[in-house]
Amino acid sequence: MSSRIVKVELADRSYDVVVGMGAVSSLPKYLPKKAKRAVIITQQGIDNQVSDMVEAAGLQCETAYIGRGEEFKSLQTIQQLCESFAQWGITRNDLIIGVGGGMVTDVAGFAAASWHRGTDVIHVSTSLVGMVDAAIGGKTGVNLPAGKNLVGAFWQPKAVICDTAFLATLPSKELRCGHGEMAKYHFLTGDDLVSLDLDDRVARCAQIKADIVSSDEREGGLRALLNYGHTLGHAIEIETNFALAHGEAVAIGLIFASKLAHSLGRIPKERVDYHLRIVGETYGLQTAIPKSCSLDRLVTLMAKDKKAVDGLTFVLDGPQGVETVAGIQPQIVHQTLEAMEVL
Ligand code: GLY
Repeated sequence: MSSRIVKVELADRSYDVVVGMGAVSSLPKYLPKKAKRAVIITQQGIDNQVSDMVEAAGLQCETAYIGRGEEFKSLQTIQQLCESFAQWGITRNDLIIGVGGGMVTDVAGFAAASWHRGTDVIHVSTSLVGMVDAAIGGKTGVNLPAGKNLVGAFWQPKAVICDTAFLATLPSKELRCGHGEMAKYHFLTGDDLVSLDLDDRVARCAQIKADIVSSDEREGGLRALLNYGHTLGHAIEIETNFALAHGEAVAIGLIFASKLAHSLGRIPKERVDYHLRIVGETYGLQTAIPKSCSLDRLVTLMAKDKKAVDGLTFVLDGPQGVETVAGIQPQIVHQTLEAMEVL
């Protein structure tokens, strides 16, 4: 096994992201010495060698299963988890380990942030979205009926383990979602990610994210670039009633963002073509707007986006690279949407 180590640099809260085939075997090295017990938070069906490893390292281990689906990413799940922690006598010296995709690590992270006002957490990420995005950077939280991820906390893990062996059995929809997020990284730096093998590409995406988080942990500026393609992506998710999942919708959002940047004279057509090549050909993702979507409603949803502090706001490519651009006229957004392919 050869793993790559990516560092998230946050002074005394810095941590490793370990990426590679068999990376989970590095877990014992990251178990905090002060911990006597560990709680694994996971879902049924996730291949879980973690409890054996934790017990072999001398910790008492409990496992809490959470349901599958966004409806279980809730405050009720956090309450149930915390009640179990109380029953098991988990102290603030103990450890929580999230083993799963982005939903599991978001919930495990928030439970850890809340339990005794902050308990150590390690994420063992089993999905591509988790490995290149969700498990890294300390964003944790749950949904409310009013919207996704509305309640949460920044709580950095002690380590993130990305064992790429898990990807071999990932369902194709989840793989597409990971590819949507992965495609984004091709445009954030000048790196040639296409030439890298899977493990190196995952590690490089993790490194790009780690560098951004290290320089802007709380999303005061630079971290917003990780939302490239997400403004239309979020609107499409809602407008299709989540028939298109997050990463699939982000893929279309990346194409739209490039076309909008071109309409605004920020990038040449060749750069739009590059976006189409990466998203449509390298990753084989849908690049057209779903025909069920109303363009008017998409524009309305985009105007409500969290980033929209000054009119319609997008993360857009440009001569200085990708940056946040506010105050974009609805008319040009509408025209660019109308010119998109529909499927
Ligand atoms: N998923 C975007 C971020 O972590 O900031």
